[in-house]
Amino acid sequence: MENHRLLSLTMALLGFLSPCLTTLTPRVSFPVGSPGRHLTRFSSPDVSNTTTLLLSEDGDMLYVGAQDAVLALDVSLKEAIVLRSKLDWSPSEKDLEQCSMKGKKMADCPNFIRVLQFLNTTHIYACGTFAFSPRCTYINTESLMMSLKPDEGRGRCPYDPYQRNTAIIVDGELYTGTVADYRGNRPVISRHLSEGRRVDLKLDDTLGWLEDPTFISSSFIPDEEKIYFFFSEVGREYDFIDKFIVSRVSQICMSDVGGQRTLQRRWTTFAKAQLLCQADNELPYNVIQDIDSLPPVDGAPADDTLFYGIFTSQWSVNSGQSAVCSFRLSDIKSVFSGNYKVLNRDTLQWSTRVQEKVANPGECGLHNASDNALRFVKENFLADDSVRPVGRSLTMVSTEHNYSHLTVQRVQAANNREYTVLFLLTESGYLHKVVLLQSGAHIIEEIQVFEKPQPVKSLKLSIPKGMIYVGTSEGVMRVPTANCSFYWTCAQCVLSRDPFCGWDPASRACVETSSIQTSLGQDIDRGNVEEACFPLTHRARFGPNNLPAGELVSVSLNEVVRLQCPAASQLSRQLWERPNSRLSSDLYLHLEDGSLSFVATPATLGHYLCLSTENGYQQTMAIYHVKQKSSPVPQTPTSYSRPQSPPLPTTRADGPQVHTSVDPKRTETIQKETEPTPTSGGRDTRVTTRQLIRNFTTLWTLGSGQKEAELRDGEALLSSRGPSYLKELVIVSVLLVLCLSLLITMFLYVARQRCRSRTAPQSGTPSRDSDRRTPVEQEALRGNQFMSKRNGQASGLVCNGALTGSNGHLPNTPI
Ligand SMILES: *[C@@H]1O[C@H](CO)[C@@H](O)[C@H](O)[C@H]1NC(C)=O
Ligand SMILES: *[C@@H]1O[C@H](CO)[C@@H](O)[C@H](O)[C@H]1NC(C)=O
Ligand SMILES: *[C@@H]1O[C@H](CO)[C@@H](O)[C@H](O)[C@H]1NC(C)=O
Ligand SMILES: *[C@@H]1O[C@H](CO)[C@@H](O)[C@H](O)[C@H]1NC(C)=O
Repeated sequence: MENHRLLSLTMALLGFLSPCLTTLTPRVSFPVGSPGRHLTRFSSPDVSNTTTLLLSEDGDMLYVGAQDAVLALDVSLKEAIVLRSKLDWSPSEKDLEQCSMKGKKMADCPNFIRVLQFLNTTHIYACGTFAFSPRCTYINTESLMMSLKPDEGRGRCPYDPYQRNTAIIVDGELYTGTVADYRGNRPVISRHLSEGRRVDLKLDDTLGWLEDPTFISSSFIPDEEKIYFFFSEVGREYDFIDKFIVSRVSQICMSDVGGQRTLQRRWTTFAKAQLLCQADNELPYNVIQDIDSLPPVDGAPADDTLFYGIFTSQWSVNSGQSAVCSFRLSDIKSVFSGNYKVLNRDTLQWSTRVQEKVANPGECGLHNASDNALRFVKENFLADDSVRPVGRSLTMVSTEHNYSHLTVQRVQAANNREYTVLFLLTESGYLHKVVLLQSGAHIIEEIQVFEKPQPVKSLKLSIPKGMIYVGTSEGVMRVPTANCSFYWTCAQCVLSRDPFCGWDPASRACVETSSIQTSLGQDIDRGNVEEACFPLTHRARFGPNNLPAGELVSVSLNEVVRLQCPAASQLSRQLWERPNSRLSSDLYLHLEDGSLSFVATPATLGHYLCLSTENGYQQTMAIYHVKQKSSPVPQTPTSYSRPQSPPLPTTRADGPQVHTSVDPKRTETIQKETEPTPTSGGRDTRVTTRQLIRNFTTLWTLGSGQKEAELRDGEALLSSRGPSYLKELVIVSVLLVLCLSLLITMFLYVARQRCRSRTAPQSGTPSRDSDRRTPVEQEALRGNQFMSKRNGQASGLVCNGALTGSNGHLPNTPI
C-alpha cells in the first residue's frame, strides 16, 4: 500500500515534468498574410467546399471536387491559380425536395464530390453524394464535359457528405471503401467497373468483416499487385472493453475474381490486421486519422515502402494530442502471412486457437480453390499479430497539436543524405513542416493556411513542383514547400535545419539545395552554425574596448527603463549582458518577452547587449547605450519605454537574426533609414522586428556618434542622485516570487486531485471478473498493456498515460 502511494506520487510528479520535455515548438511561425511565406489562394464566390483534390501527373493541373461542381485549375503559373473550366453538376429541385423530406438538412443535400480519380488518359471518374443518393460520372479531362449518363453511385460514394470514404482507380477498375446505404451502417470494400471475365467484387456481409469502420485511405503497391486499405473500426476482439477502437490495415489482391461457388462475387483475398501506434507500456494512439506512403529509395525493394500515419486517442485524457507512427510494408506482409484469429460463430468471440491451416488467408490466386479452402479464408480474416511501428516506437508525439492530415517526402540534403520531411496539418489550420532526425522530430516552421476550423479538408503534395495544396471549404491554398530566401544570414539558414535550404557562400544567400551543387553551408543533424558558416575563421566577440556604441537610450535618473530584445526564433533564448559587470537580480527584472527592466541609477548606466542563444549558437540581437539625459527634466518616476521601438511581437515572434557582421548589401538599405520609423503593430510581426533591427543597427553603425556628441556636454551637469526606487523594486520582486510559488503549489495540488478523481473512460465493464478472461483477453492484455490488471481500477494508469504525455517511459506497474 505504502509502495503504491509512493509510486503514484512519483508518477504524478514525473507526469508534470515530462510534457515539458516533449513539447515541440515550431521554430518559426507564419500567421496568415506573412510575406515570408507567400500563399496563393483560389476561391470564388460561386464555388464552395473545394475539398476533393486530384493532381495531374506533371503537376500543372489541379482538379477539384467541390459542392455541385468539378473544377479544373491551372496551377502552372507562379503568381496565381487560374480557373480553366468548371462543370456544374447539381441535383434537381425535385431531388433536393426529396432529400429534405427524408429529414436531411438542406445544407447537406447538394452534390458534394467525394470521388475524383483518373480513369484513363482521357477521362476522370467522379462521384458525388447527390442529395443523399450518390451518383458517378465520366468527365472528359480536356473539355471537363460529362461523357455518359451518370451511373448509380451506391457502394462507390457515401450518402452523407460528412462520412469519410476512400477510392482509388487502378487499371480502369475502381476500388472503394465506403458505406453502401442511406443510413450509413452497411460499410463495404468493393471493386467496380470490372469488365469481361473480371467481375465486380465486394465483401461478404454475413460475417461482419468490417465493424462500423471509418475509411481513411487506400494505397496501390504495384510490385505486390495489391491494394491496401486503412481505416479504424470497433475492435470486436477486445470484447471486454466497450467500443474499443482499433486502427486497421487490410489488403485485397487485384487478381481476385471471387470464388466459384463459395464466395461468388466476393473477395477471396481480404484480410485485415491491427495497426499499433503505441510506445511500450503507454496508452495507445488507437484512432488513425490519415496515412501517406513513402516509396523506397531508388533501387531498394518495394518491401521498404513506409507508411506514415497520424493517430489520436479515443480517450479524452489524451485529447488534443496526436502521434505519428510509421509502418514498413515488409512488416505488414509478414503479419498477413502469419496466423489468423478464429471466430467462434456461436459466442461471436475471437480466439487464437491453433488450428490446421486449410488455406493461407490473404494469399492471392484462391479463386480456383476448393470450397473447403474458401470457407476457411471466409472465416479467418483477422491476423493474429498486430503490425508494430518501425523501431517499435512512435515517430513523433505532439502534446499540443491535433494533427489531422499529413503528406511525406524524402529530401536530399547538401551532404547527399536523404531526410524524411513530413507536412502535417493541424485542426486549427497550421501546416507544420517537420524533419525527422536521429534525435527526434524538429518542426522547421508552421504556416497558417486557414483561419476557421474546417470539418472537411484535404492535403496534396506535388513533389516535382515543390508545392502543397490544402483544400477546405474556404478555397484551395497553395504553399511552396520551402522559401529559403526568408533566411537572410548563414546562421538563420543553418539553424533552420531545413533540408531544402543551404547557405551559398558565393552568392551570400540561402538557396534551395537542389538548384546548385556547390558546397552549401548546411547541418541538418546538428544545426551547428560555427562549423557550417565559419569553417575557417573565428568570430570576433566584443571585448570591452571594441564595443560598438549601440543604440542610444537617454534617460533621467530614477526612471524605469525597459530595453527590448527581439527573438531570433521561437526556439531561441534571450539573455542580457553588460561588459565587465553582472546583472544582479536585485537591480534587473527579466520580463517574459525577453526585455530587460531596471531603474536608471548611475550604477545602471552604460552598455547592454541582448544576446540570443539557439542550439548552442549565440548572436547579438541588440546593443544599447543607456545614458543620462543632458537637460534637467522634471523627475517623474513613471514607467519609461523607448518611444522609438515599435510594438514587439511576443511569443509568436519570428524575427530575423542579426549577425555581428552586417551584410554589405543590407547596410545600404539600412543607411537610408537614418531615423527610426515607427511601425504600426501590423499583422506581420516579422516586418516589425526586422524594422527594429534595422533601426538600431543604423544608430549603432552611424547615428550614435553624432548624437552622443550632442549629449556629452550636458552630462556633467547632472551628477546629483535623486531618490532611489531600488528598495521598492526589491520588495515588489519578493512579493511576486511569493505569489508565483503559491500559484504553483495550488496548481500541483489541483492537478493531483483531478488525476485521482479521473476514471478510465469506457474502461470496460467493472462487473466482469478477471477470472473469466479468455486467452484472447489475456493475450490482449499482454500486448497492449494500457489497462490495469484489476478491472475497474484503470484510473491510475490512464492518469499516468495522460500525465506523462507520451514519452514518459514509465514502467507500467499496476497501482
Ligand atoms: C520568401 O521570403 C522572402 C523574404 O521574406 C519574401 O520576400 C518572398 O516573397 C518569399 N517568397 C515566397 C514565395 O513566399
Ligand atoms: C476512357 O474511358 C471512357 C469511358 O469509359 C471511354 O469513353 C474512352 O474511350 C476511354 N479512353 C481511352 C483512351 O481509352
Ligand atoms: C482452375 O483449376 C482447374 C483444375 O481444378 C484448372 O484446370 C484450371 O486451369 C484452373 N484455372 C485457373 C484460372 O487457374
Ligand atoms: C461546406 O462548407 C461550409 C462552409 O462554407 C461548411 O459549413 C460545411 O460544413 C461544408 N460541408 C461539407 C460537407 O464539407
